[in-house]
Amino acid sequence: AQDRVYTFVLEERLGAPDGVEKTMLVVNGLYPGPTIEVNEGDRVIVNVTNLMPNATAIHWHGLYQRGTPYFDGTNAITQCGIPPGESLVYNFTLDGWSGTTWYHAHYSTQYTDGVTGAFIVHGKNETVPSYDAEIVVQLSDLYHGFSTDLLRQYLSTQGMTGEGLTGVTQGNEPVPDAGTINGVGQWGNSTAYSNYTLEANKTYRLRLANTGSFAASRFSVDGHILTVIEADGVPITPYEVSGLVIDVAQRYSVLLKTNRTTGAYWMRGSVQEDSFTYDEPGFNGNQLAIIRYGVDDSAMPSAELAASDPGAGDGAPGDLDVSLLVPSDFVEAPNSTISYTLTISMQNTATNNWLSFVNSTSWSPLAGQATLFDSLTLNSTGANVYDDSQLIITIPQKEVVDIVINNYDDGDHPFHLHGMKVFVMGNGAGRYQGQALNSNNPLRRDTVLLPAYTWTVLRFVADNPGMWAFHCHLSWHMAAGLLMQWSVMPAEAALLTPPQQMLDQCSMLKGISD
Ligand code: C2O
Repeated sequence: AQDRVYTFVLEERLGAPDGVEKTMLVVNGLYPGPTIEVNEGDRVIVNVTNLMPNATAIHWHGLYQRGTPYFDGTNAITQCGIPPGESLVYNFTLDGWSGTTWYHAHYSTQYTDGVTGAFIVHGKNETVPSYDAEIVVQLSDLYHGFSTDLLRQYLSTQGMTGEGLTGVTQGNEPVPDAGTINGVGQWGNSTAYSNYTLEANKTYRLRLANTGSFAASRFSVDGHILTVIEADGVPITPYEVSGLVIDVAQRYSVLLKTNRTTGAYWMRGSVQEDSFTYDEPGFNGNQLAIIRYGVDDSAMPSAELAASDPGAGDGAPGDLDVSLLVPSDFVEAPNSTISYTLTISMQNTATNNWLSFVNSTSWSPLAGQATLFDSLTLNSTGANVYDDSQLIITIPQKEVVDIVINNYDDGDHPFHLHGMKVFVMGNGAGRYQGQALNSNNPLRRDTVLLPAYTWTVLRFVADNPGMWAFHCHLSWHMAAGLLMQWSVMPAEAALLTPPQQMLDQCSMLKGISD
């Protein structure tokens, strides 16, 4: 194991990922930010300096943070934000986690404006087929408007006009203008593409991540079949597909065999519009990149830009069916020892704010922050230090928890649990009424899509002390309160002390707000 040291400087910059200039929030001047690539067991030390106008926190999506829950990087949950002009050193080890993930700002909708990057952990004994080389492929939707403006419009009745803002109305989520693949998109007349030069007769591992804010993305490569081998850090029994839909915050690794010797082919992402209630003028959901065999000779792919299918040829497999993913390491889900039922809904409140609810609560960072100001070690005092507007379920000692979720909303929600993976025990139409669950090597992952008007049962072993968020990963929904928290083993968590730097930043922010 090694120490891996990174320096991140976060700042506001103008950028034009798809040819349209917009205000962005970026890491070291880059979008996406630098890739963190380490080995399982390594210590990762990231010195984050915040030169943005607002506070921030950086979350390492899906990682366990066992023993360092205060470095989970969730604003108003595990830390007070890093105030503008300040730095915070995150310092954690990667015990027991390997695979493909990403990092992002976890402060309101900040990551929508750019603070994202890939996080690759090479496993000690990862049970995936061998490959020769790998490529990180980050797919994201893209908004021309600045997320704070879009959010204000979504949450309230205020009128708004301007580039990328006109279609947004209260309660209707802002829809993207375009998409990007590794930070490059095509809008209007823009014809910039990311390029990859591949060698023939090799096997490439494409590490795919949807680092977007609202829309799922379908991924395919013209003329090539893909073999899924990993989902959210879990090795998968190889599964051949023509293409796959990746929900927001999910990751997959797919193998691509370079079965050609010459030519150029499109690598295609396509922003899925299922959840759009309107289209932005000029919407372009293409997320195109080019793979070329041999030298980078600027040859262009021959297939139509607008083709909708990868055309992998006769007898090509279908698209990924998530219910058919089988982890390659067999694990029987343990019996649950406790069960909680959560309902999801979106409602307009008495004050005419359109908010998201888990049961009868809508998470608010202000309420969370107020608590943190007075007692950062909320874990030491248990759930009662919280404002009533926060739904926090306390698990005093190790339990196997069933989360029974009824989604009463007409939208799909990619839900993410921090700190632990979940077993996907079952799902179906309507609400849960005791339907049979599958404990026989169920899919395990950290981000699960809860389709509209369905039930899902997720099971997790609550043995990682800390305060763990559980939330919809769509930026707009998270900011509208679709988040609750699990306080796991608070007495043990209280023994884990955050660094002084973090405590000092709470006082600084308190000073600002007083
Ligand atoms: Cu990817 Cu709560 O985060």
